[in-house]
Amino acid sequence: MMNMELDLTIRNAVIVNAAQTMRGDIGVRDGRIAVIADSLAPAAQDIDAAGRYVLPGGIDSHCHVEQLSASGLMTADDFYSATVSAAFGGTTTIIPFAAQHRGMSLPKVVEDYHAAAGPKAVIDYSFHLIVSDPTPQALATDLPDLISKGYTSFKVYMTYDKLKLDDGQLLDVLELAGRAGALVMVHAENNDVIKWIAQRLLANGHTAPKFHAVAHDPLAESEATHRVIQFSRLLDTPVLVVHVSGIEAVRNIRAAQTLGVRVYGETCPQYLFLTAKDIDRPGLDGAMFCCSPPPRDAASQEAVWEGLTNGTFQVYSSDHAPYRFDETGKLPKGDKTTFKDMANGVPGLELRLPLLFSEGVLKGRMSIKQFVALTATNHAQMYGLAHRKGSIAVGLDADMAIWDAEKVTKITAGNIHDNVGYTPYEGREITGWPVTVINRGRVVVDDGKLIAGRGDGHFIARKTPGPLRMERKPAESMRLFKSFITSPEASTK
Ligand code: URP
Ligand code: ZN
Ligand code: ZN
Repeated sequence: MMNMELDLTIRNAVIVNAAQTMRGDIGVRDGRIAVIADSLAPAAQDIDAAGRYVLPGGIDSHCHVEQLSASGLMTADDFYSATVSAAFGGTTTIIPFAAQHRGMSLPKVVEDYHAAAGPKAVIDYSFHLIVSDPTPQALATDLPDLISKGYTSFKVYMTYDKLKLDDGQLLDVLELAGRAGALVMVHAENNDVIKWIAQRLLANGHTAPKFHAVAHDPLAESEATHRVIQFSRLLDTPVLVVHVSGIEAVRNIRAAQTLGVRVYGETCPQYLFLTAKDIDRPGLDGAMFCCSPPPRDAASQEAVWEGLTNGTFQVYSSDHAPYRFDETGKLPKGDKTTFKDMANGVPGLELRLPLLFSEGVLKGRMSIKQFVALTATNHAQMYGLAHRKGSIAVGLDADMAIWDAEKVTKITAGNIHDNVGYTPYEGREITGWPVTVINRGRVVVDDGKLIAGRGDGHFIARKTPGPLRMERKPAESMRLFKSFITSPEASTK
C-alpha cells in the first residue's frame, strides 16, 4: 500500500551518521526527514537503497565561487557550475565567501553575492565573509549586524598584499568575533617570508611553477599558525586554521589543542593526495597544481592523514579555487607567466568526497562515521548549521547522498562538471561514488543525471557556531591586560 503521508521514501538503507550506523527506512515530507523506522510503506517517490550507504549530504565549508581574487581574476565557476559540480560529488550545501576587497562595503558585498547566487545555485548555500578592510565602521556596525543576520564566520588572510590584515587588525577582528560569537577562519602564511624568498627566486631566474612551493616555505605556514594561535590565546577567542598543509603547522595546532586552546583545523584533498613533486612538470603545466599553501612532502601528507583521524582537524573541505589553464586564471601573462603571476588554487568540489571515501574509508584509514563527521556533521556544528544540516535525523533537512561503495571510476577532467577544464587527480582510479544526491528532499543528481534546476538551492542563514568548542583550562582566560580595558570595544578604537 502506498504511503500517502510522505513525499519520498528511501528504503533498505544503511544509514550512517557521525555517531552511529543503523539499518532502516527514511521518510521525507516537505523537504525534511519526517520519520526513520525499521520499515515504511513506499511513498509515491521511492528509492530502494539496498546494498548502498545513505550518508548525510556533504557540506563544503571552504570553496571560492564566483569570487574575484586579490589580483582581480574571476573564478572559472559561477554558482551554477560550482553547485552542479558539488552535487555530482555528493555535496548538498556549500559555504563560499562573500569577499570584501579593500574599500568595499561589507553589506554591499553580501547583497551582490546574493544576487549572483540566488538565480543559479542548484543546492543550498550559505556565505562566509572575507574581511580585508576592518574599518571602524566594519567593526562597530557592519560585522555585528551581518553576524546577527546569519553570516557567522569570516576568513582573514595573513598573506597576499591586497588581502592581508596586519597583526593589529587581526586582533581587532578576533576580538570582535569573540564578543559576537562568530568564528574566524585564518589563512596562516607569513607574507613577508614568502615575498622575500620569491623576490630572490625571480631575481635568479627561477620562474617555473615548482618555485611556488619553494617560496611558500613550510616555515612561513608554521610561523603564522603559531602566531595566530598566540593571538587566540591572548584574546581567548577560537580560531580555525584553514587549509593546513605542513607537518609543523599540524603539530602547532595539536600542541595548542593539548593545552586547551580553542584552535581548530581544516585540511583539504590536495594535502592528502598531492605533493610538491606534482608541481614539477614540463613548461607551465605545474600551474594546475599550485595552491596556497602548496602541497608538501610525504611526511606532511602522513601528518595530515593522522590529523584527520586523531581529532586535530575537525573539517575536511575542498578550498575549491577554480582557475582555467589560460589567460583568465593560471596563465595571465601567457608563456611569460611566472609562479608569482598565476592565480592560486586547485579545483576540488566534486572529488573531495569520492577521493576520501576511496582512499580513507575503503583503504581502512578511517571509519565511515569519521568520514561523515569530517565531511558533513562537523561543518554543520562548527558553522552554525546543525539545526538544519549535517546529520540524518528527524526534523533536519532531507540532505543525503546514496553511495555505491563498489563503483569504480577513473578520474578524468571530461567527467567533472566544473568549468575548470583539468583536474589535478587526472587518471586516478577510485572506488565508491555518491550515485543519488538529495537536497531538502529533492533528487538533485541521479545515476549521472542532473535533475535539479538553476535557482532551486536556498540560502541558509546560520546560527552562531559553538557546540564543538573545547574545554579550556582556566589559565587561558586570565590575561593581565584585560583588567585594564574597560569597554569591550576598546581594542577597536
Ligand atoms: O590557493 C588557494 N588556496 N587559493 C584560494 C584562496 C585561498 O587562499 O584560500
Ligand atoms: Zn586561503
Ligand atoms: Zn580558500
